[in-house]
Amino acid sequence: MLSFLKKAPKETFADLLKVDIHSHLIPGIDDGSPDMETSLHFLGKLSELGYKKVITTPHIMTDFHPNDSKTILSGLTALKSELKAKGINIEVEAAAEYFLDTTFEKLLAEGDILSFGAKKYVLVEMSFIQSTPNFEEIIFNLLTKGYTPILAHPERYTYWQENSRVFRHIQDLGCLMQVNIPSLLGYYGKPVKNLAIQMIKSGYIDFLGTDLHHIRHLDLFIEGKHNSEINALVKKYDFKNHLLL
Ligand SMILES: [Fe+2]
Repeated sequence: MLSFLKKAPKETFADLLKVDIHSHLIPGIDDGSPDMETSLHFLGKLSELGYKKVITTPHIMTDFHPNDSKTILSGLTALKSELKAKGINIEVEAAAEYFLDTTFEKLLAEGDILSFGAKKYVLVEMSFIQSTPNFEEIIFNLLTKGYTPILAHPERYTYWQENSRVFRHIQDLGCLMQVNIPSLLGYYGKPVKNLAIQMIKSGYIDFLGTDLHHIRHLDLFIEGKHNSEINALVKKYDFKNHLLL
């Protein structure tokens, strides 16, 4: 009788974002989930958090994670069939997190690129030591071929900490940017968190991503699921994640 007095369950950042665009959940092909059991566990928990869809993005990095579209898509097929068998209710797609190197340029020239969404988004990353020297040229080539590049976790490139004008330049090139949710939860320290928030408030950030690799990330999300700072940012700044549902 008094059910109308019951409070609606509190929203999580995942309820608001609906779609995650950055994670490492194809079993055993990069430094993310090592096996099928872990991937199923992580995806079940992402569903409980409120995500409706996960576009998972294994690394493609010549020396460390020599994946290609075949290794990723065959892993996706196996993962989807196990999700179905176990009754875990979350939509899963796969693309990649491309490290910007000569292998990437070759794949781009051959047209062997995994993109997602109607705008053909391509998630790219660069070294944490130094930026990719021909970054502008690669972004131009991606755009010319009809793709929309998204630079993963720019707030973590510490060589840009003191040079925030670079983000305006990247935006002007036509490259979108994605902040990591662990950055906002302080996982990589205060300077990274502060820069992430500053970038969002400056209007540079189009997407948030979990960049989920392992259980420590997952525990962080479960603990921080009602984090008021993140939820306020997600409500105020209209990230594009939900448009991919
Ligand atoms: Fe990643």
